[in-house]
Amino acid sequence: MTRASLNESRLSEHVDRLGLEHPPIDLDSVDYAVARPDLFNERYGHVLDYMARVELEVDRNVLELTTLLPDPPEIDRRFYAEVWQPQETRHGLILDKLQVELGRPPATPDLTSIGVKMRILGALAHLDAFQDVCRMLYYLTGMATERSAVLAYNLLHDGVVEMRETAVAETVIAPIKRQEPGHYAFYQLSARGLWGQLAGWQKWMVRRMRSFSFAPVGANDDQQKADFGELMRTLHIDERADDFAQQISRVERELLWAHQRGLHVPPYVAKAFREAVELARLRRAA
Ligand SMILES: [Fe+2]
Ligand SMILES: [Fe+2]
Repeated sequence: MTRASLNESRLSEHVDRLGLEHPPIDLDSVDYAVARPDLFNERYGHVLDYMARVELEVDRNVLELTTLLPDPPEIDRRFYAEVWQPQETRHGLILDKLQVELGRPPATPDLTSIGVKMRILGALAHLDAFQDVCRMLYYLTGMATERSAVLAYNLLHDGVVEMRETAVAETVIAPIKRQEPGHYAFYQLSARGLWGQLAGWQKWMVRRMRSFSFAPVGANDDQQKADFGELMRTLHIDERADDFAQQISRVERELLWAHQRGLHVPPYVAKAFREAVELARLRRAA
């Protein structure tokens, strides 16, 4: 078996396993009871809103994906149709319902607009050799997003347990956070597999494009970046932003920047997180 086909069969086993072991969360299994709703809302309301929005925007992600990858490999198509979209949609619905129960307005996900960057990429993606550059960028984004989700849900879970909001911790956050590592693993396997197949010029292109297009998950404009900065503050990620940046970009650094010895975190990742914290600080001050 060649390395590429070994990777393919690993990916396909992984998707089978996720489909079997992690069905979308049953909505009837969720208990929205909150003992101290005002306090809970004050502390975590905005975090729930941010996460609900990002989870619900999975529908736009799928749209972007079909723009970006007009001809996706079968395994990618299966992953997002059978595992990713059904699971993430439930995450979004549950978190959104929880915030509405707390008296907040529902999230306002953007489900349809595709940015200029994405359109240009999409047009280029019709060129065969460029399609793999786009796919690589898509896997890198997936890795950073899912790793951010794993870390953020862990921190949120700890905080909710500490507040003794047991129903939410056990029936909302815990089941959601259990599904994220499988998504991360999918993108990581995919990224590692594809990187090895890219030609030098494609790798160069990926590095360039990633350097100017990286953004924290769900942060598409300054307001959303500040929202993300607030989320970092509430979960105490701002106190160790570089460590967080390092964790979400570990494999990316290993693949893309292996030749730059001593590089801790890709500078564009560290910069994006610092910027989010700063924008949140400025907004507070105003
Ligand atoms: Fe999710
Ligand atoms: Fe996920």
